[in-house]
Amino acid sequence: MQRIAVMTSGGDAPGMNAAVRSVVRAAIHNDMSVIGFKRGYNGMLMRSRDTHDDFEIMTRKSVSDKIHRGGTFLMTARCTDFLDVECQKQVIKNLRLLGIEGLIGIGGDGTFRGLNALNELGFPTVGIPGTIDNDMEYTDYTLGFDSALNTACECIDRVRETSDSHERASLITVMGRNCGDIALHTALACGAEYVMIPEAPWSIESIANRIKWGMLNGKRSTIIVMAEGAFASLTSNVEKICRENESLHGIINDTMTSSKLAAILEALSGQETRSTILGYIQRGGSPSAQDRILGSRFGEYAVNLLRDDISGRAVGIRDNKLIDMPFSEIVGQPQPFRAELMHLVSVLAR
Ligand code: F6P
Repeated sequence: MQRIAVMTSGGDAPGMNAAVRSVVRAAIHNDMSVIGFKRGYNGMLMRSRDTHDDFEIMTRKSVSDKIHRGGTFLMTARCTDFLDVECQKQVIKNLRLLGIEGLIGIGGDGTFRGLNALNELGFPTVGIPGTIDNDMEYTDYTLGFDSALNTACECIDRVRETSDSHERASLITVMGRNCGDIALHTALACGAEYVMIPEAPWSIESIANRIKWGMLNGKRSTIIVMAEGAFASLTSNVEKICRENESLHGIINDTMTSSKLAAILEALSGQETRSTILGYIQRGGSPSAQDRILGSRFGEYAVNLLRDDISGRAVGIRDNKLIDMPFSEIVGQPQPFRAELMHLVSVLAR
C-alpha cells in the first residue's frame, strides 16, 4: 500500500495521540503516506463541506509534541448513521477518491463494527482498541484504561482523606456503562470496602451492613466504588426500603441516582454518606507511561499488518505480546466478569 488513513472514533481515551503518532511515523518509515481524518466516521463522510476541515495530510511534524497529550488531536465523534450501508459505501468512495488503500481506526466496539463493515465491503481496515472501559475480551488491555485507572485512584485517595477526617462513608461513581473493569480495578487499588458493577448482583442492605460493620470495628470511613452502570444489577426493593424509613419518604424511587443511594445508605447504616461522581475527569488528562508505550506498539503493529496486506483484524495484547484477531471474533464479546477480583476486594477490606 502507498497511502493509508487513520482516525479516532467513539469516546476519547488517553493514549490515542500516541497511537496516531506511531501510525504516522511507522507508515512514513515504510514509505507510505498517511491521511488523518477528523471526527471519526463523520470526517470520512466529509461532513464539514463549508469549512473543508475533514482531513489533513500527516507529516512527521503533524504528530510532534503529541505523545504526552490526552484526548485526541484528530477529534472524535459517535456516528450512528454509520450503521447504514449507504454511508459505509460513501466512505469507501471518499477514501478511494483520495487514493487511500487502507484504514486504521482507533476506538471501541462501535468503531470496530464500522471497520468490520468497511472490510466486508472490500476496503482493508485494521483496528486499535482505544477505550478507557477495557471492555474487550480478546485483549488484556485497551488503550486508555491504565490512565483512567490511575486518575480514578488519585481522585479516590483524595476523597478518602476528607472522608476519614469527617468519619463519613463515600460513594464514588466511576465510568463503565456496561463493564465494571474500571470500578473493580480502582476498588482494588484504592483499598475500597465495597464495589458495585453491572455484571454482578448487589443489594443496598448488604452495603449498609458493611458500613455498620466497619463502624463497629473502628473504621473511621468507608469507600464504596460504583460503576456508572451498576444500577442495572441492583436487586433491592428500593420502594419498600423507602416506605419503611420515615426519613426516606421524600425519595422518589423511579430513577435511582447515586445521591439518592447515598441518602438511603446513610439512613440504613447511621453513618453520614456522601456521593462523588468522577465523570469525564477520568477520560481526560495526560496518558500514563503504560498507555503511551501501548499506543506506540499498537500503532506500528497496525501499520505492519496493512503493509503486509493483512486486514479485517484488530490489534491487541495478551501476556505482553502483541496479537491480532479477526473483527468477526471480537465485536460484541465483552470482557468476562472477573469474580476473583471482586472476591479479593471483599477479603482485603476486612
Ligand atoms: O468511552 C467509554 C465511556 O467513557 C463509558 O465509560 C461511558 O459510559 C461513555 O463512554 C460516555 O460516553 P459519552 O462521551 O458519549 O458521554
